[in-house]
Amino acid sequence: MGLKGVVLAGGTGSRLRPLTRVTNKHLLPVYDRPMVFYPLRMLAEAGITEIMVVTGGECAGEFIGLLGNGEEFGLERLAYAYQDGPGGIAEALGLTRDFVADDDVVVVLGDNLLERPIAGAVQRFREQDCGARVLLKQVPDPERFGVAELDDGRIVRIVEKPTEPRSDLAVTGIYMYDHSVFDIVDDLEPSARGELEITDVNTAFLARGELEHEVVEGWWTDAGTFESLFHAGQLVRDSRLGDAETGA
Ligand code: DAU
Repeated sequence: MGLKGVVLAGGTGSRLRPLTRVTNKHLLPVYDRPMVFYPLRMLAEAGITEIMVVTGGECAGEFIGLLGNGEEFGLERLAYAYQDGPGGIAEALGLTRDFVADDDVVVVLGDNLLERPIAGAVQRFREQDCGARVLLKQVPDPERFGVAELDDGRIVRIVEKPTEPRSDLAVTGIYMYDHSVFDIVDDLEPSARGELEITDVNTAFLARGELEHEVVEGWWTDAGTFESLFHAGQLVRDSRLGDAETGA
């Protein structure tokens, strides 16, 4: 079974207005690169060579100008899909069905950045028979995220943006799914905020007993709020300077 990559870069970026009034959130700079470079590179460095970027809004065309055919990232194929409105992360994923076809898929939210490579997690997902694998990270502000509750080392519940989080383990925006994910997406109902929720997708795998997880090492951040965008730039800068010092 092959493995494809998906970067989700739709949505409205409403939490970053006015920065996102005339451009797409994922084109904004995070230190010295446009935000979308980071998830793309994360997938490319894990050995994934066929990737689809899902985007939307009036600036969708800019992604082709910026990323072209993906050669710069060493990709064999860079495909694009257009999401007509912010119908949710799971809706955006559903648009990649024909591209992913019978393969498995690693999905990365376009505003997520990780310090360390995901190659190890991807390898462990490949060795899994079927189902899903999510990456978790301890955070000081779990109420901003999907939050995983563990019992005996297994995820027993995921709650999207709980007002009273039962753990400090955020579900990061890096998801690995077998191709049955598209049947799950087909059966979803919109949430109270009118979106098809990725947490509901993960909960469906959980209900089948097919949800694996691991806790990521190194830093993880999103970049979808002023604070996290600013912080992401600092983290990237600090690790870049660290690389320069060690010659890496
Ligand atoms: O960053 C991790 C978190 O991302 C998870 O912990 C949450 O469970 C998950 O729901 C998500 O939460 P956010 O509220 O941060 O998601 P947001 O609406 O900011 O969307 C994140 C990315 O997903 C965004 O940068 C682009 C993509 N997206 C989002 C929507 C709503 C789309 O491609 N299309 C969409 O319609």
